[in-house]
Amino acid sequence: MDWRELKHRFFALFLVPIALYGPWSFLRVWANKLRGVTIGKNVWIGYDAFIDQPPDVKESLVEIQDGVGIGFRNAIFGHDSSPKWRGESIAFKKVVIEKNVYLGANVTIMPGVRIGESAVVGACSLVTKDVPPFTVVVGVPARPIKKLVQREDGSWDFEVLK
Ligand SMILES: CC(C)(COP(=O)(O)OP(=O)(O)OC[C@H]1O[C@@H](n2cnc3c(N)ncnc32)[C@H](O)[C@@H]1OP(=O)(O)O)[C@@H](O)C(=O)NCCC(=O)NCCS
Repeated sequence: MDWRELKHRFFALFLVPIALYGPWSFLRVWANKLRGVTIGKNVWIGYDAFIDQPPDVKESLVEIQDGVGIGFRNAIFGHDSSPKWRGESIAFKKVVIEKNVYLGANVTIMPGVRIGESAVVGACSLVTKDVPPFTVVVGVPARPIKKLVQREDGSWDFEVLK
């Protein structure tokens, strides 16, 4: 590892407390962007939300598109360390959170998941699979409960899934 790489890693680690505990969302967004997370416009990140981006990984492990809201104490993971304990390499799988998604408080998202446009994830849910667009999911593991349907006047309605 050369000096520049060492400096980058140190800087990225120094940014973690700001990304988690910065007093305003714009500071948490800024720090996460500098850590290497891909973040679009008008994104709101709650306090103590952990977004996976190890300093030694160059590609973004998490992509957060425009207009996304990430609740208090989320944990969004783009890697699984368990293979390392069997002597294998860590598995990296990118998470994509499409535009206008809302993640409630204490949501955990597993590696490789894609959350579709305008989906809603209920508080304390564990997302293990892709979430279709315009769908509300809740629970551990998260399951769809409602669909978001747009009325002719532009407002939104919920359709309960049986
Ligand atoms: C997911 C959410 C948006 C759904 O709201 P809603 O459409 O009004 O849902 P309802 O209250 O009609 O609940 C529908 C069903 O889902 C269940 N449910 C709702 N939220 C749930 C959750 N987070 N986890 C598990 N089950 C949940 C309800 O118990 C209900 O079950 P039932 O039909 O068996 O009685 C909402 O419950 C939620 O979690 N919002 C996030 C709040 C939050 O995190 N705020 C802080 C952000 S920093």
